[in-house]
Amino acid sequence: MATLKDIASRAKVSVATVSKFLNSKGSFSSTTEEKIREAIDFYNYHHKIRSSISDNNSNTLVKTVGLIIPDVENPFFSSITKTLELLLFRYGYFLILCNSDNNLDLENNFFHYLTNKAVNGIILITTNSIERKIQQTSGIPLVLLDRKIDNLKISYVATDNKKGTKAATTYLIEINKNKIAFIGGRDDLNTSQERLNGYLEALKEFSIPVDEEIIVKGDFSFQGGYQAMSRLLLSGKPFDSVLTGNDIEAFGAIECLREAGITVPDQVSIVGYDDIWLSKISHPKLTTLHQPVFELCREAVNILLQSMKNPSIVVQRILEPELVIRESCKPGKKFF
Ligand code: RIB
Repeated sequence: MATLKDIASRAKVSVATVSKFLNSKGSFSSTTEEKIREAIDFYNYHHKIRSSISDNNSNTLVKTVGLIIPDVENPFFSSITKTLELLLFRYGYFLILCNSDNNLDLENNFFHYLTNKAVNGIILITTNSIERKIQQTSGIPLVLLDRKIDNLKISYVATDNKKGTKAATTYLIEINKNKIAFIGGRDDLNTSQERLNGYLEALKEFSIPVDEEIIVKGDFSFQGGYQAMSRLLLSGKPFDSVLTGNDIEAFGAIECLREAGITVPDQVSIVGYDDIWLSKISHPKLTTLHQPVFELCREAVNILLQSMKNPSIVVQRILEPELVIRESCKPGKKFF
């Protein structure tokens, strides 16, 4: 088990400096912070949590960070939750998880509770990035994760959704697909809009006409993907491939195709988004856009810790998704 001394030695700073850093006391150069964080990650160090009431009754309160996510059953969000909890615990913070169940009113209630219970910081994945208004956080540091809210000077960490779907659409075109359908996420999310824009931009670059009838709405759920695929099939419009808003939708779409006797990828190629663990073991294994969950979480934690020391900072980071090609796509033309 690594000690403060190990951290200090590797970071080439004093034990006192490491202790102040872990207890969010004092200010440090970015170089010093980086070196201490690297040493903490290297040793996978966990800051010893002092009890809520320590021996000398100093009323040392446990440090906490509130995390609000839309759907804990979606492996993308549960993976984020697990990663954030481990990263925050290294710095002595407990995570308070709030699952808004894709309900904006519930999200607002959780947000109000957390800002009034004086947690040390909040990380928010909003369920509605179009209509969400951020009330005052009473000075509690806030970082938006995955879903940014445009026109707000608030720190966020997300991936380049447009770049991701543009790369996926370009890949489908390059394997001779030119009837590419799109099943979107929810209209009230910037991630859905950005993914649609990436799809449209790729079609435009290859001078492939947009067919609005094979662009259907989804809601990032299995049922949503299933029902969207059902509407596509009922439309009678030909398509040879489908880009979906996320992996869970892709699984719903594949199930609908299977029930209709249509095979993936022989007749229709499918691409997801997220690269959740299920996509690596599904049949067929899913071609998808990998979201760098660890890096997203590490950036969000680093920005939150910096904001605890300097509440006025605003840091906005966009990370790169990566196209992962698996079995659910097959080259060649195959209309049905
Ligand atoms: O799977 C849920 C989706 O909503 C993910 O793609 C994530 O980016 C979020 O926007």
